[in-house]
Amino acid sequence: MIEQRPFGSTGLTVSRIGLGAGQVGERDVTEPQAERLLRGALDLGVTLVDTALSYGASEERIGRHLHDRRGDFVLSSKGGSGVEGHEDWSAGAVRASVEQTLRRTRSERVDVFFLHSCSLEVLERGEAQDALDAEVEAGRVVVAGYSGDNEALAYAASSSRFGALECSVNVADRWNLHHVVGQDPALGVIAKRPVANAPWRFDERPTGHYAELYWERLQQLRLDPGPLGWTALALRFTAHAPGVHSSIVGTAHLDHLRENVEAASAGPLPPEVVAHLDEAWDRVGADWPSST
Ligand SMILES: NC(=O)c1ccc[n+]([C@@H]2O[C@H](COP(=O)([O-])OP(=O)(O)OC[C@H]3O[C@@H](n4cnc5c(N)ncnc54)[C@H](OP(=O)(O)O)[C@@H]3O)[C@@H](O)[C@H]2O)c1
Repeated sequence: MIEQRPFGSTGLTVSRIGLGAGQVGERDVTEPQAERLLRGALDLGVTLVDTALSYGASEERIGRHLHDRRGDFVLSSKGGSGVEGHEDWSAGAVRASVEQTLRRTRSERVDVFFLHSCSLEVLERGEAQDALDAEVEAGRVVVAGYSGDNEALAYAASSSRFGALECSVNVADRWNLHHVVGQDPALGVIAKRPVANAPWRFDERPTGHYAELYWERLQQLRLDPGPLGWTALALRFTAHAPGVHSSIVGTAHLDHLRENVEAASAGPLPPEVVAHLDEAWDRVGADWPSST
């Protein structure tokens, strides 16, 4: 069974592997497929489901297929911009985002609500954080979080305004890991893009595809997955990275999620594999920013 662990000092408990429910919201994922994936994830012991206002039908599908099991998982969602009738990152936009999430997911409260990639300038203004605090005060949100990367993430982490962070961490993306993650053990940390968008699926450069940046980085890193294979190599790196509490693999396929849970359950990577990854990173990756 998948390991459950404290989510920083938030009082929540999360599974080492979570479900990134971005794909659950996509149009080409059928309703029965979404149901099978969401319910199957909980059956596997996954207790963190991560979604966002902007993930298509994801929130509605979580509400539709998991409302009878709402007590069995930590729900994290994200918003603050793109809300009709509200200026992005205004107090009204944050409040309306939380309201939409609660309505769509059929929840009375959302466990973690992240400001979804707002800039450093927005964070410095503070209006969005004040609005999120009001949601916590009102009991609609349990933990206020920031989802983002690089300097904005570093600012958020040291601001004392958040209880949780979500950021990119994987074999081809380590800036957040080296500069922010784990520095404040009280913060709950979710790693997004934990398998680097699985770029090894593409023999040729996937021009214009989401995975293109990491495909290019893997070419430069010249990693050898060895007998472990790519998925296990990537996932064991992220899932056992110091300071990361849960790695939310995005998938539309329950068999992939099962494979991911099994891979992470095998434990941290052997030291010689870690040394190989570190050597490659130090050789070409040390100045790479995290992907936003
Ligand atoms: N806060 C933010 O701004 C932000 C940004 C990006 C992502 N996220 C969150 O993080 C989650 C994960 O990120 P992501 O989806 O971008 O990246 P990811 O988890 O690194 O990669 C997902 C890709 O890997 C494939 N995959 C997963 N497991 C696999 C396996 N065992 N074998 C082969 N392929 C596999 C999936 O395809 P299949 O569907 O075929 O399995 C999918 O295309 C998202 O769902 C979302 O919740 C948040």
